[in-house]
Amino acid sequence: MLSLVVLISGGGSNLRSLLEACQDAEYPARVVAIGADRDADGLDLGEEFGIPTFSVPFSSHASREAWGDEVLAQIRQWTPDLVVLSGFMRLLPPRVVAALSPQLLNTHPAYLPEFPGAHGVRDALAAGVPETGASLIVVDTGVDDGPIIAQERVPVLPGDTEASLHERIKTVERRLLVQTVLDIANGHVDLEEHSQI
Ligand code: GRF
Repeated sequence: MLSLVVLISGGGSNLRSLLEACQDAEYPARVVAIGADRDADGLDLGEEFGIPTFSVPFSSHASREAWGDEVLAQIRQWTPDLVVLSGFMRLLPPRVVAALSPQLLNTHPAYLPEFPGAHGVRDALAAGVPETGASLIVVDTGVDDGPIIAQERVPVLPGDTEASLHERIKTVERRLLVQTVLDIANGHVDLEEHSQI
C-alpha cells in the first residue's frame, strides 16, 4: 500500500478525487495526511475523510528556508512513500525538494513545457492556442520543469473563460493523478528512473 501526503493551497478538488479513489479497497494507495501552507478550504476534506491535516503558514516563518524545514518536518512525521503537490501554490526550498524528490509529484494545468508557472491556464488563454493540457511531473528545483510522468491535451473552446478552461483541465488532472498513483503503486512507473537530483 503506497502512503501519500498531499499538500494543497486551495479547494482541493483534485485531492478529493484521490481520496475517493483511495476509498476503493482495491486501490493500492492511501492518503495519510493533508498539509497546507495556509488556511486552505480543502483542509476540510481531512474531517470529511477522517484524515489528519497540518498547516504551516508561510507568513509565520522568518524565511522560506525556515518555513520549508517545518513543512518537511511535518511531512516526515508521516513517513510517506510519495508526496503530491496538488494545487500547492508555493515553491518549496531546494533542500526540501532534494530531500523528497523524486518521490515528489506536482500537478500542473498546462501541457508542460508550455505555460509553466502560477498562471498556466490564464497564459494559455492569453496566447490564443487551440489546445493546452494537464501534466504530472516530478518536482525538481526549477519551476515546473521536472521530468514529465504523464500528460494529456485539453482543447480550448470558443468562449472559454479562465474558470471554464481550468475546470475542463482539472477533470483531466484528476484522472492523470489517480492513474499515475496507481501506476506507481503497481510498479508500472518507477520514479527513481526519473530522478534528476
Ligand atoms: C490545479 O489545476 C493545479 O494544477 C493547480 O491548482 C489547481 C488545484 O485545484 N496548481 P484544486 O485545489 O484541486 O481544486
